Amino acid sequence: MSNNTNRRSFIGFSFAAVAAAGAVPMLIGMKKAWDPLPSVLAGGFTEVDLTTLKPGNPATVEWRGKPVFVLKKTAEMESSDRDLIVGDDRFTVAIGLCTHLGCIPAWKKTAWKCACHGGQFDASGKQTFGPPPRPLDLPEFGLKGNILVLGETGPEYKKLMTAKV
Ligand code: FES
Repeated sequence: MSNNTNRRSFIGFSFAAVAAAGAVPMLIGMKKAWDPLPSVLAGGFTEVDLTTLKPGNPATVEWRGKPVFVLKKTAEMESSDRDLIVGDDRFTVAIGLCTHLGCIPAWKKTAWKCACHGGQFDASGKQTFGPPPRPLDLPEFGLKGNILVLGETGPEYKKLMTAKV
């Protein structure tokens, strides 16, 4: 092998080593820039402690910029195939946007009423009056004991989606 070939190989290897050494930090920097911020990741999930809810008095929590209604049903409220059953309690979990044109219905003792065009949803989130074409939508959720985790897709959510309630 000539001196020229050895020199060329050495220069080639040196160039490759410098390029590789420079590429690693660049790729790490690019990955950091593309990964969602921790605040964004945390924003995808909202936890609700179901033990804090009073029967018949729904909580409204924010999840991914939308209101979500979580109602612990009273014994008098009708059972529904949309009920989330936790222990002896029944809950309604629904996105709080009217399925007509997206207004936020207000809770009026036993039902959610939409001020925009008079739509009405019962305590299970089913439309009972006015122009809404379907029940309140279900948010993705999971359960960790008594904690409702909005943003997860737990078996309870999948069961309701399979039942097309
Ligand atoms: S937006 Fe609720 S009834 Fe029209």
